Amino acid sequence: MRAVQNQIRRVILIGGGLVLALVPLGVLGVVIVSAAGLPPAFLRPQITQPIAFPHNTHVQAARLDCTFCHRNVTTGDAATVPAVEQCMFCHQVVATDRPEIQKLISYWQQNQPINWNRVHRLPDHVHFVHSVHIQRGFACSTCHGAVENVGKEGVQQVRPLKMGDCVNCHRENNGPTDCGVCHY
Ligand code: HEC
Ligand code: HEC
Ligand code: HEC
Ligand code: HEC
Ligand code: HEC
Repeated sequence: MRAVQNQIRRVILIGGGLVLALVPLGVLGVVIVSAAGLPPAFLRPQITQPIAFPHNTHVQAARLDCTFCHRNVTTGDAATVPAVEQCMFCHQVVATDRPEIQKLISYWQQNQPINWNRVHRLPDHVHFVHSVHIQRGFACSTCHGAVENVGKEGVQQVRPLKMGDCVNCHRENNGPTDCGVCHY
């Protein structure tokens, strides 16, 4: 009887110790994730856009290819975001009764560009080239996640894209790792 009680007490002690040991591990996990790249989602500021542009509608329902709007992405450094005129190609007639489209129309009528807030932005001393990565066969989702499913909440960054992340992928895929490739 005594032996069984001791056994039970030992199990409870070990169990409690484990739980206590896991708490700092969890805290450490958050710290490690922040140090390695993106801070956890609950700490990241949500980026809002001047017009709530839904990617899912355009890619899935309207069946537009990413390159229809991000025209430079297969040939140049920057992907580029389309000018208002390109939206008006459709929205002179499509969904003109919706508030977000009326905002779009007013930019167009006033000849004003839409100042989209940048979601991904490397520091100025870093050089990134879209075309090389696309030609090498990497899908947009490798770095940007499933943008085709993103609705009016807007695109957010899902991959660290810090130096360690870039260099790791370069090592794994025989990409260049000289400092001068990525730094001016
Ligand atoms: C009808 C035009 C259109 C199509 C098609 C489109 N996009 Fe976009 N995209 C935009 C506009 C406008 C923005 C700027 C507003 C925003 O960030 O949501 C944008 C923003 C983005 C951003 C964030 C850019 C930043 O600021 O860092 C990414 C990444 C992106 N698009 C990827 C894609 C991918 C991948 C596809 C295909 C699955 C795609 N887009 C299809 C118009 C389009
Ligand atoms: C090839 C045609 C086409 C182009 C180009 C296009 N759109 Fe659209 N857009 C659509 C269609 C189709 C819908 C869905 C309309 C519906 O729900 O009936 C839509 C929906 C939208 C909506 C959601 C409207 C709402 O509140 O329901 C917004 C905002 C929008 N587009 C903005 C833009 C912007 C900004 C651009 C340029 C970067 C653009 N669109 C380019 C076809 C297009
Ligand atoms: C290897 C990773 C990677 C892949 C693959 C990739 N991107 Fe990007 N993208 C980035 C990085 C990094 C930035 C930020 C660049 C900067 O700040 O100079 C960016 C920025 C962007 C931007 C906003 C700024 C700009 O360049 O105009 C858009 C839009 C975009 N990407 C769309 C796309 C689309 C569409 C695809 C697929 C055809 C794609 N990206 C594939 C890493 C990637
Ligand atoms: C998913 C893997 C992957 C990621 C992530 C990635 N790269 Fe690359 N990158 C490659 C590969 C592979 C090559 C070599 C392509 C080739 O030469 O065919 C390359 C080539 C390059 C080049 C050489 C361009 C040229 O003109 O030859 C630059 C610059 C570059 N990457 C910058 C970056 C930066 C900066 C980041 C992070 C923000 C990054 N890459 C993230 C895989 C990646
Ligand atoms: C594949 C691309 C790539 C290569 C190769 C690369 N870097 Fe970077 N580096 C980046 C990116 C992206 C950033 C900005 C994001 C960050 O701070 O991690 C950066 C940031 C830095 C910073 C600034 C860090 C800070 O805290 O602001 C320094 C310094 C640096 N790199 C030095 C180097 C040196 C030295 C080498 C060669 C041994 C090198 N890099 C090779 C992509 C690269």
